[in-house]
Amino acid sequence: HRHLLGIAPLKPWEIRFLLDQAEHWVGINRSGTRKHDDRLKGLTQINAFFENSTRTLLSFEIAGKRLGADVVNMHAAQSSVKKGETLIDTAVTLNAMRADVIVIRHGSSGAVQLIADKVDCPVLNAGDGWHEHPTQALLDALTIRRRRGYIEGQIVTICGDVLHSRVARSNMLSLAALGAQVRVVAPPTLMPAEVECMGATPYTSFDAALDGADVVMMLRIQNERMDGGFIPSTREYHRLYGLTPERLALAKPDVLVMHPGPMNRGVEIDSAVADHPDHSAITEQVEMGVAVRMACLDVLTRGRRGVEGWS
Ligand code: CP
Repeated sequence: HRHLLGIAPLKPWEIRFLLDQAEHWVGINRSGTRKHDDRLKGLTQINAFFENSTRTLLSFEIAGKRLGADVVNMHAAQSSVKKGETLIDTAVTLNAMRADVIVIRHGSSGAVQLIADKVDCPVLNAGDGWHEHPTQALLDALTIRRRRGYIEGQIVTICGDVLHSRVARSNMLSLAALGAQVRVVAPPTLMPAEVECMGATPYTSFDAALDGADVVMMLRIQNERMDGGFIPSTREYHRLYGLTPERLALAKPDVLVMHPGPMNRGVEIDSAVADHPDHSAITEQVEMGVAVRMACLDVLTRGRRGVEGWS
C-alpha cells in the first residue's frame, strides 16, 4: 500500500503486521530517556489538520520527531483555507513543497482520499468525517492485545454515537478482521444501517450489549456532526447509555474500559469508571498511539527510503 486511508483496504495479516511493528516502538519508547531512532532523517512530514485534535496531532508529531523526520504542522484555522483556497489547491501546494509523508485530518469523509490522489508521497488518514480513523483502530487493537494477549474471541462492546463515528467504523472493521465478537449499541437514530456489513451486531439495550463483555469502548456524542438532527439531552443520554460502575458490573469482572477521547465525563462515562485503576485503559490508549503512529510512518515511508515495504 502506498497510503493508509482506512482499515477497509487492509488484510488481517497487514493489520497484525502493523501491530507487531508497533510493539517494537512501545519497547523503545519505554526504554528510557533516549527515544530517538533516526530512520526518517532527512524526510519531511507535514501534518495538515483541518479539524481540531489533541491526541492524534501531538502523537503524530512526537512519532515523526522520534523517528528523526522534519515535522511541520499546518492548522487549517491559520492557513489560507480560511481565505477560500480549495482542498485540491491546498494538496497541490503541499505537494510542491516536496513532502515525503503527509498526515491529514479533515471534517469531510473522502477528503483524505482526494488529497492522496493529488500528491506524490504516502498519505496517512488521521480521521476524515464519519468515514475512518485507521490509526485509532490500530492503537485500540494494540491496547486490547497487550492487555489480553490476543483479540480473537474477545467480546467488544462499542457504545455511543456510532453513526457519526469514524472511530467506531474503523474499530468494527479492524476488530472483526482480527476475530473479535463486536457488539455496537447506540440510540436508534444514531445507529448506522450498515453495522452488520462491518462484522458487528447491533443492540439497542446497553445492558444487553454489556452482558459478559470483555472490552467496553465508549464514544462521545458528536454534537458538531448532528447537522440539525437529533441531539439527546445530556441527562437522558446518561440514563440510557452512560457507563456507570453499576452498569459495568454486567460485563466480565476483568472488563477493560476504553475511550478514544475527548471524553465528556458524566455524559457517556462516569469518572469512577474512566479513572478506575484496574479497568480503565484510556491512558494506555494514548501511549499506544505514539507507537502505532511510529510504526505507520516507518512502514509507509519504506519505499521512499529504499527499504523493502509490506506488500
Ligand atoms: N481520539 C482522537 O482522535 O482524539 P483527538 O481528536 O484529540 O485527536
